[in-house]
Amino acid sequence: MDLFEKLKVDRGPLGKHSNVEEGYFMFPKLEGEISPHMKFRGKEVLTWSLNNYLGLANHPEVRKADSDAVAKWGLAYPMGARMMSGNTSQHELLEAQLADFVKKPEVMLLNFGYQGVLSIIDAVVGRKDAIVYDAESHACIVDGVRLHMGKRFVYPHNDIENLEKQLQRATKLTDETGGGILVITEGVFGMTGATGDLKRVVELKKKYNFRLLVDDAHGFGTMGETGAGTGEALGVMNEIDLYFSTFAKSMALIGAFVAGDKEIVKFLRYNLRSQIFAKSLPMAMVEGAIKRLELLRDQPEHKKKLWDVVNALQGGLQEKGFSIGSTQSPVTPVVLNGTVGEAASLAHDLRENFNIFCSVVIYPVVPKGTIILRLIPTASHSLEDVKRTIEAFEAIKEKLSSGHYRENELAKAFKE
Ligand SMILES: Cc1ncc(COP(=O)(O)O)c(C=O)c1O
Repeated sequence: MDLFEKLKVDRGPLGKHSNVEEGYFMFPKLEGEISPHMKFRGKEVLTWSLNNYLGLANHPEVRKADSDAVAKWGLAYPMGARMMSGNTSQHELLEAQLADFVKKPEVMLLNFGYQGVLSIIDAVVGRKDAIVYDAESHACIVDGVRLHMGKRFVYPHNDIENLEKQLQRATKLTDETGGGILVITEGVFGMTGATGDLKRVVELKKKYNFRLLVDDAHGFGTMGETGAGTGEALGVMNEIDLYFSTFAKSMALIGAFVAGDKEIVKFLRYNLRSQIFAKSLPMAMVEGAIKRLELLRDQPEHKKKLWDVVNALQGGLQEKGFSIGSTQSPVTPVVLNGTVGEAASLAHDLRENFNIFCSVVIYPVVPKGTIILRLIPTASHSLEDVKRTIEAFEAIKEKLSSGHYRENELAKAFKE
């Protein structure tokens, strides 16, 4: 069979929905200034799907720093990979400031979080080593694990008893091969908002010899006393051997970083293929990140405002009888029961009749029969936004349980 003909027939688990209103559910365009009130198809909608947790994306100081940096440097500078010709004092300054903030000896910048994590995993483990990872890990971890040539062991999400069993198996294996063990989990799981059970994970270090990599994409800036992340919040930062976060969320930018001991970060600088063989972050990104970090670090009011909104939203939803699963972070999943078709029809109603835009998570990301409306509260939302949303959710929940969304054309157009 012709390769491309095959792809036209089997478009993949998400691609199979591409015929149904592309541009509406898939690849929608939100227009206007980044804020909770943006335009979707010409109409203002209250948005709950941007990871702009601290509201920094449009902060006037951020906008000024960004435009000043672009005016000064353009978008090209520096040229080349950092190892070759793309290093600058500003890259090093940002690394030093991030290291200071997360209280780790050394930081290395990464161009992208996804590629960074993939490449960290690829760099630190070899054929003789074993990986043990949480089953609900982000795609970048899963794909990093797929690159691994040695053994991998997966444990059910946050099931620490099972993690211990996997560690026993991994230890037995690596005792034979002479390799080491890397455990990988997340600070905050982005779909459910649950935190990784890091305290219990690091307890296991007393019994087993392993190194711990934590992806804290959703925790950096939102969790912990100073915003230094889930490691700080749970008091285990010292036991996290490699602490990773992207700039794509609280920092409202592109880029990422990994923090750890000096020797290991030095090893990464010389072995991380996604950085060695790629152009370094443009200066405008670096200077933009320095400004964002300054605000994140020196203006705790953004995090406080975020949590006021989080508490009002999560408390309000629970008061009205909604399940918000196991979240312990700003990520707010509203768990409902229904088919993929019902999910589409309900999301359509939310957008068209209640002017509320949020992400709808469906099978295969969650089990069949479960619909998650995933809300990302930010420091820019108001308590009025929260009130309006809870009222709308009460209305759609009632319509869902009465079977209202089951029979319409849109619901039928979605294949299970
Ligand atoms: C948990 C997690 N890790 C990694 C990434 C990838 O980061 P980036 O967008 O910088 O590639 C994301 C999404 O942005 C994420 O949610």
